Amino acid sequence: MGKIGILTSGGDCPGLNAVIRGAVLKGETVYGQEFVGFLDGWRGLVEGDVMPLDRSSVRGLAREGGTILGTSRIGPYSEPHGGAENIAKVLDELGIDGVIAIGGEGTASASKRLFEDGINIVGVPKTIDNDLDATDYTFGFDTAVEIATEAIDRLRTTGNSHKRCMVLEVMGRHAGWIALYSGIAGGAHAILIPEQPESLNQICAWVTSVKNRGRSPMVVVAEGFTLPDMDQAHSTKGVDGFNRPRLGGIAEVLAPLIEERTGIETRSTVLGHIQRGGSPTGFDRVLATRLGMAVTDLVADKHWGHMVALRGTAIVRVDFGEALANHKTVPQDQYQEIRVIFG
Ligand code: F6P
Repeated sequence: MGKIGILTSGGDCPGLNAVIRGAVLKGETVYGQEFVGFLDGWRGLVEGDVMPLDRSSVRGLAREGGTILGTSRIGPYSEPHGGAENIAKVLDELGIDGVIAIGGEGTASASKRLFEDGINIVGVPKTIDNDLDATDYTFGFDTAVEIATEAIDRLRTTGNSHKRCMVLEVMGRHAGWIALYSGIAGGAHAILIPEQPESLNQICAWVTSVKNRGRSPMVVVAEGFTLPDMDQAHSTKGVDGFNRPRLGGIAEVLAPLIEERTGIETRSTVLGHIQRGGSPTGFDRVLATRLGMAVTDLVADKHWGHMVALRGTAIVRVDFGEALANHKTVPQDQYQEIRVIFG
């Protein structure tokens, strides 16, 4: 099988480079495939902006954060040059037979549309939020949880010294997986996630009971969490390239409210993009490498319109439609399991 173009799209994620390396190594070695990388996500595909990718260009990449190809939040149908017709022409001119798109939900739905419009395309799921239903875990999530857990550990020592309540905000637009896992790992006294409304009264009751035991309260909140009187997630920074509100800052809203109600000095920290940067964990390197290798099987089999996913410990194939059917949010019972020991 001939020449394949790889792109990374949407928010970056530790492990993207490991996917690229896995794909190039297996594709070259096992199938004799040739690779190029499209620069800056869909932009590179739409404009035919490519870099060569071979064994030597992916050397040592499994441990590198970010993406050597660059990424953007631009869609393949964006004006003025986007669209399947133009993309088919670009691929033809460059002699590229198929595309591997590594990305999250936005990338998968754009890939589905391109596939339906006749483009040979397969996918690899990616998001630190871990909210894609088709796959048990996405690479990048484990790394984000490690970073957030370390942040909780650090906030707890300074919080204890000053006898303050500390509120840490982590990412998680629709799903609170990072907050849930890091909060459990770091022993947080309350974990607030988009899927589960909690009242300010309840949050303050947990904080006060911790303080009454002589401890310093630690609250972890996902960026997408809303209080009952909010009709949407806190956003003051406009919209991104997919027209989604840029979230962030709910911890800064909560901290003064908690302080005012409880009389306990409260500080907030927004972890932000720190949880997306740097080296992937061992788990994420393994998962990303396996997914990258497996996607070359899809290409070899011309199994276009599908992506690779993790089910249990096996790598499986799912079609884009199935992959996009549901968001994987935190189930009520999984939240309740830990909620019983809050406070
Ligand atoms: O979708 C992944 C994610 O990390 C979200 O949790 C967050 O809302 C968003 O990306 C932030 O993206 P940006 O890099 O555009 O600020």
